[in-house]
Parts: sequence; C-alpha cells; structure tokens
Amino acid sequence: MANLNSDAFVFFGATGDLAYKQIFPALQAMIRHGRFDLPIIGVAKSSWTLDQLRARARESLEKHGGVDPAAFAVLSSKLQYVSGDYSSPETFRNLRKALGGASRPLYYLAIPPDLFATVAEGLASAGCDKNARVIVEKPFGRDLASAQSLNKTLRKSFPESSIFRIDHYLGKEPVQNLLYFRFANSFLEPIWNRNYVQSVQITMAESFGVQGRGLFYEEAGAIRDVVQNHMLEVVALLTMEAPAGKDTDCLRDEKQRAFRVMRPLSPADVVRGQFRGYRNEKGVAPDSQVETFAAVKLHVDTWRWAGVPFYIRAGKEMPVTATEVLVELKRPPQNVFDAITPSQANNFRFRLSPEVSISLVARAKKPGGAMAGEPVELVVRESPGEEMTPYERLLGDAIRGDAMLFVREDGVEAAWSVVDSILGNATPIHEYEPNTWGPAEAAQLIAPDGAWHNPAASDVDPESKK
Ligand code: BG6
Repeated sequence: MANLNSDAFVFFGATGDLAYKQIFPALQAMIRHGRFDLPIIGVAKSSWTLDQLRARARESLEKHGGVDPAAFAVLSSKLQYVSGDYSSPETFRNLRKALGGASRPLYYLAIPPDLFATVAEGLASAGCDKNARVIVEKPFGRDLASAQSLNKTLRKSFPESSIFRIDHYLGKEPVQNLLYFRFANSFLEPIWNRNYVQSVQITMAESFGVQGRGLFYEEAGAIRDVVQNHMLEVVALLTMEAPAGKDTDCLRDEKQRAFRVMRPLSPADVVRGQFRGYRNEKGVAPDSQVETFAAVKLHVDTWRWAGVPFYIRAGKEMPVTATEVLVELKRPPQNVFDAITPSQANNFRFRLSPEVSISLVARAKKPGGAMAGEPVELVVRESPGEEMTPYERLLGDAIRGDAMLFVREDGVEAAWSVVDSILGNATPIHEYEPNTWGPAEAAQLIAPDGAWHNPAASDVDPESKK
C-alpha cells in the first residue's frame, strides 16, 4: 500500500473555508502541472448542486491565484458532489457509488475534528475505508489530552502510515531548505552548537489582524495557532541531529527526538499580548483574554544545545509581514582590533517568507588607515521560480503515500507537551498597539540575552508593508 498511489481524491467540507482557500487552488495547480489525474469528489452537508460547487471552485480560484481555463475545465469535469449528513449511512452509500471502481481513496477531512469519529464510522459502514488514506489539518487538538484522544479516534480506523497530519510550514521550500542547508554543508556542523551559537531568535510577524477569523481565533490564539506547530517544527529542524538514512521514518525519528528534548515551557518563559482593537473583531468576546502575540524562551536540553536560548516570537498586527530565523554566533574571544560587541558578532539569517534568503553577517575592514571594521552581509537570494505552493506539494505527497513532510502521531503529541502548561490564561495578557512589535514585556523576556532583531519589511512583496 505504501507505494501505491491513491486513486480518488475525496474532500469532506467541500463547501467550507479550507476547500475555498487551499484545496481548489492546489487541485488546479496539480492539474496544470500534469501531476493529478484522479476523480475528485466533494462531500458536504449543504444541499447544493454540482454546478453550485463548480461555481464555488471558480470563485475560489478567482480569489486565490487566478483561473487557468484549461486546468479549470479538467478540474470541473472531474468534480462530483455528494451532499448529506455525516451521521447518515446514506451519505456514505452515495459516496461509495461515486467512488465507482476506485479502491484506494484519499480522504481530506476539511471538517471540525469533533466530526472525525462520525466520518470514520460512516466510511467503515459503507466499506469505503479499505486501503484509504486520510489528511487532517492543524491545529491537531487543543492541548495534549485532546490531541491524544484525536489520535486514538483516528487510529481506531486507520493505521499511522495512512494518516497525513498537515502542517503547511513543512511544505514550504525555505523550511525544507533549513534542513537541506544544515546537512548538505560541512562548514556548518563544527559551529552548529553551544560552543559557537550564542542564541537563536525566530520571528513570525504578520502585518494584518485576524482577517474575519475571530471566531476561530478565539478558540486558538497565537500559541495554538502557530507556535505549537509551525514555530516548533522550525526549531526541530534547526536543532535535530542528522537522520540516519533517507527514509521517512529516519527523518521523523530524529525530529521526534528534537521535540522530546525541548524543555516544557513554564509561565516565566512566556509573554502573551493582544493588539488593541482585537476585542472589537466579529466573533471575539468583549473581554477576550486570547493572545494575538506570543513570545517564548525555549531551552533545548541536549549536549549540543545546553544553555543556548531559543527565542520565538509570533504576532498579528506587527509592523511588517516576515518570518525569519536569526542564529547569533559568539563574538571572538578577544578584541584584537576594534571592540566587537555581542550584537556585532557573526550571525546567520534565514528569511523564510515572504521572500527567501539566507545570509551570513561577517565583519570586514573598513577602507582607511584604521584597523576598524564594519558588518558585511553575504547573501544567497532565491529567485522565485515555478515552485509548488505548500498545499500542492503536500497533497501530491499524500496521494503518493509519502509522509516525510507530515507530522507523526508522537511528534504532534510531543509538541503539545512543550506548550501544554502555558495554554489559556496561565499567564497574563498585555495589550499592544497595532503596528508595533508587541508588548514591552517581550523586550524584557529577551533582555538577559540582548534584544529582538526586528526583520525589515520585504523588498519584494509590497503586500507585506503596511
Ligand atoms: C496558519 C495560521 O496556519 O498560518 C494563520 O492559522 C497564519 O493564522 C498562517 O496567518 C501563516 O502562514 P503563511 O504560509 O501565510 O505564512
């Protein structure tokens, strides 16, 4: 089964938000690139006609990347629609009919997690679960206990090798490049440890708010929405040891070890913020305590990383949209020429979005009589190519049964263990002004080790500037 491609693509929640924003665009892109040739079946409760679903698909593409007439015609002709209640066996009998001769379907559960068990039972009742794969979205659970219980629910119906937990960050080129860059260059390994690295900062800044998703965000907050998953995945890729081999589980085994050595966060390691105006958003409680900003100080308890602080900061309504990793190296042991302060020491900067670059900041002599230096930046900038979007990449991988870029059962639970005791109101919430870098308390958190480095606005994506 592992090597056989799925032979039908079924998405539950066909009339919903995720299908609209991600699934239709990914399907069109795969068709355009000649990477998709399966029947497509949408399933949802709404009693729509197939033509209504086609119209919805077209509208989704108009809003997200544009309609490619040829690829859309193919998408449209492959599309089928099964409407019905998920608790009704008839829905699944109709799905079985729509699947025709397909015997290895891929099910995308683009629905709330409390419906997973109902859908899994429905699939089994109609014999639709044989040789099937399922894709589920993040956040996977709300805390460690609910993630464990979701895993149990899914594992009753599917083996782990058939469950594909999406974290779209893993489908991003620059995130994969972190791993590649680390293990494809020999110059990095001797210095990639506590002897040379002073501290690491990761900033995920977004210049927009919750964009109408107030209801969703009230249940999530920045820690559940992006720290537990996207940010901790990035830390794992930065800190893990080299995988012992190329296969999927070698990589995921090492990543799992990286999660397990992250010290669980305690309230003293966390600053939560909320931008002024969040409480006026639709769906948000007038006295909401949910964070739209979080800064944490994380420790990685291994021989390699002992004593090196990892600072993570993620927030909405920041001055720019940019995600960046900054690895600060220690300063030279003595000032032979000019004095080099810790903040002037070498650093590596990995820009993950919106544009992609890797730079090394070094020092070089300033022209002139004095032996005095200045920072110079050696930059690798990737020109945007015909690269796949994360969803196109990940859906294609799931169809082929390649789980390398998906989150394993033990991985998702280990990541929840790191944040479990700081969820909810474990720490106070501090208000911050939109268009700033969050509450002042975040600066105090990092003060013992320096200051936050605020990423500059993108020079390629005007959208990211306020
Ligand atoms: C999503 C979060 O997982 O990631 C959003 O739910 C966030 O709140 C988004 O904006 C950021 O992803 P990207 O790929 O747009 O940087």
